[in-house]
Amino acid sequence: MTRWIVPSLFLTLFIGCTHDSAKDKSTSEGGDSQPITETEAANLYSIRCASCHGAEGKGDSPLGRTLHLSDLSTREWQEKTSDKDIEKVIVQGRGQMPAFKLSEPERKALVKTIRSFR
Ligand code: HEC
Repeated sequence: MTRWIVPSLFLTLFIGCTHDSAKDKSTSEGGDSQPITETEAANLYSIRCASCHGAEGKGDSPLGRTLHLSDLSTREWQEKTSDKDIEKVIVQGRGQMPAFKLSEPERKALVKTIRSFR
């Protein structure tokens, strides 16, 4: 029995690592305050957020539909939501949405990306 625990742990760690290195091209965990480009921000959004929120924030991905996400591109949503609200959700997560460890410039860039859906 224990013979299997170690390899499967290993596998989990391994998958965890490859996942990390793929995303770390554009994201640095925590502290780093290097400004990021618009392209990097768009990549960040498509890697981290689009699977649920959809490419244009409409929440129309299969996962987004299952989670009943709000459409972030409507004027109504854009107007009632402040940049601070958006950042807060990214940092703290909400419901089924995990919290993301992103640097401040990355969060600000994501806010901009979401504003561009308007
Ligand atoms: C695992 C799916 C998932 C991922 C990935 C995800 N979210 Fe979410 N998000 C949710 C859920 C669930 C909610 C809460 C339901 C809602 O408010 O529509 C939410 C809510 C939000 C809200 C608030 C919506 C509102 O109505 O006020 C914002 C803004 C947001 N997410 C942005 C992001 C950003 C930016 C990313 C990428 C860094 C991201 N999300 C990644 C599932 C996800």
